[in-house]
Amino acid sequence: MIKPFEVIRPILFQLDPERSHEWSLKMLNLCWRAGIRLSGSHTTRPRQVMGLEFCNPLGLAAGMDKNGDYIDALANLGFGFIEVGTVTPRPQPGNPRPRLFRLPAAQAIINRMGFNNRGIDYLLERVKQANYKGILGINIGKNADTPMARAAEDYLLGLRKVYPLASYVAINISSPNTKDLRQLQNAQEMCRLLQLLKAEQSHLQTIHRKYVPLVVKLAPDLDDDEIRNIAALLLDLQIDGVIATNTTVSREDVAGLPCAGEVGGLSGRPLRRQANRIIAQLAVELGKKIPIIGVGGVVSGDDAVEKLRAGASLVQIYSGLIYRGPGLIEEAKVAIENAS
Ligand SMILES: Cc1cc2nc3c(=O)[nH]c(=O)nc-3n(C[C@H](O)[C@H](O)[C@H](O)COP(=O)(O)O)c2cc1C
Repeated sequence: MIKPFEVIRPILFQLDPERSHEWSLKMLNLCWRAGIRLSGSHTTRPRQVMGLEFCNPLGLAAGMDKNGDYIDALANLGFGFIEVGTVTPRPQPGNPRPRLFRLPAAQAIINRMGFNNRGIDYLLERVKQANYKGILGINIGKNADTPMARAAEDYLLGLRKVYPLASYVAINISSPNTKDLRQLQNAQEMCRLLQLLKAEQSHLQTIHRKYVPLVVKLAPDLDDDEIRNIAALLLDLQIDGVIATNTTVSREDVAGLPCAGEVGGLSGRPLRRQANRIIAQLAVELGKKIPIIGVGGVVSGDDAVEKLRAGASLVQIYSGLIYRGPGLIEEAKVAIENAS
């Protein structure tokens, strides 16, 4: 049987990657509005993670719906959770185009979007208008023109604003496309930032009478010592979850391919092993005390299972959708269910 995505993909791949991204989301929206169900019929067992109930463990990673414009359309694909953002306090255009590149031979993507988004207030309006009632993560970052010395102010403002509407808040300190952002993963800076955010979370819990977990998203380019130190800090500060990983600046597995020299973060298949290494080490260091959301290079059902076996409790996908289409979601859910 011919699958619709196999017909559409060559057309999408003729278009500029960013246009094809926008067009795909618009098509998904049309399907949702027309009442066309795009999720499979497979039922999965719910999972409790971070005190939240996930109807299935497969989620959409941050960056696909930066402004929350397509929450219902994406939920219609059958995800167990959706992460929107990264959103910054003020709107910003991101980097100049072209800033998104396909490496089809490696099932990979390079992006240097640079947190293009319409700002937190816009996103919150979109979240309020959505019908979706499932788990919604909101991923927050800093504006490119906020000096690093004042980065914490952007994250604190972001946390305060999104707290009432988020199921969990993801702290993005690992994008390679905002100058110096990854410095926030250094022990001292990370400790200071997360202490402030934990204190604010506790304050917000009292005000809103609900506890919203704080999740930190890490880069795959950290070495063993850095991971060990970060894990100790996350335990010490009682951070609620960790997302491993963001895109990589490494080009080891794509050297020589067209577009491999583009500046930005690499995602998709070549990221898989690197992300799994980080997940596996975090799992050892965290000893099940802090759940891991595994992401990076899932392009098949087996890849999703591999993330869980490495120690993740939940799995997210992004680039795999570009290469495999929505069918990957069902494939991964079935593989996870069969493996558990
Ligand atoms: C075009 C693009 C934009 C992204 N934007 C964000 C973002 O805004 N915030 C974020 O935390 N991660 C962002 N990511 C990273 C993904 O959430 C994910 O961590 C990464 O792509 C690895 O997963 P994958 O191999 O399944 O794509 C982006 C990835 C891509 C490809």
